[in-house]
Amino acid sequence: MISLTQQVSQLTPIDDATLQAVRAEVRSLEESWTNVYSEYHTGGWQTLSLLNNTSEPTDTVITDCDPVETSLLARMPHTRALLKRLGFTYMWVRLAKLEPNAFMLEHRDYKELKRVGRLRLHIPIITNAAAAIVIERLKIFIAPGYVWKLNPVFPHAANNFGAEPRIHLILDCYVDERLTAMLREETLDESFVQYLPSPTRAELDRAVTEAARLARFGDFEMAEHSLLKLFHFYHLKEGFAYELVARMYDSLGDCPRRGQWMENKTKFLCLETAAAAAATAPTGNLRLAVVPAQSSVKEFSQ
Ligand SMILES: [Fe+2]
Repeated sequence: MISLTQQVSQLTPIDDATLQAVRAEVRSLEESWTNVYSEYHTGGWQTLSLLNNTSEPTDTVITDCDPVETSLLARMPHTRALLKRLGFTYMWVRLAKLEPNAFMLEHRDYKELKRVGRLRLHIPIITNAAAAIVIERLKIFIAPGYVWKLNPVFPHAANNFGAEPRIHLILDCYVDERLTAMLREETLDESFVQYLPSPTRAELDRAVTEAARLARFGDFEMAEHSLLKLFHFYHLKEGFAYELVARMYDSLGDCPRRGQWMENKTKFLCLETAAAAAATAPTGNLRLAVVPAQSSVKEFSQ
């Protein structure tokens, strides 16, 4: 069984003075952020690279590399010092901004990269309590003051339903001795974890009916997003949000769009390669698995 801390955990604290200094550097940025991986989100997710393969901050499509500093990092001494102090074996480091009301769809990462031990670390710089990462049935507030581990070979999504942009420093790191040692001490404060309720059949039926109504008026994107967003509010089994979109297009007799979303499900969740990747995922402290609370809501057959 896969423990929650294999998927997400807190690795090490970040002191407040460092966080304030990095935050000030980020707030003073005047660069134009790049919009990448657009099919994986609803708009409003943008990045800038600090360590990458070209030194150009707007090169933000990640790949395996032995990275160099970008011209942006050279102008961020506190951020640069933090990365150096953490001392990981970096593959890529980015700033990622998630605008208010934006959300990433349920997905897996790393499918295009080499099969080597690698983890994604998050350092929240500017965030709010209405921003979260969703994993399985859980919504997790990635609270400031820590380096967080996210193992993105497991399905996950991100959202920001707060009023201000959420900005994280995202460190893709090769697993080395230093990171392995931190993984042995990883923890997860359960006060940051919220269990999502299971939806009722009536709630799902209503959502599909309402989405179909939007689609009939030509608001296809709004219809699709209304169903895909359910992953952020309910405990849905892997890929079920995509199946709801397919079900909605089924009800409209729209076979091409139905087929497209079933293809998207396979692509975004990397279903052809996911099982093998999860089996070789670096493991942390298995003793700290969080036991899910019993839901009193009757589970809809998904
Ligand atoms: Fe991701």
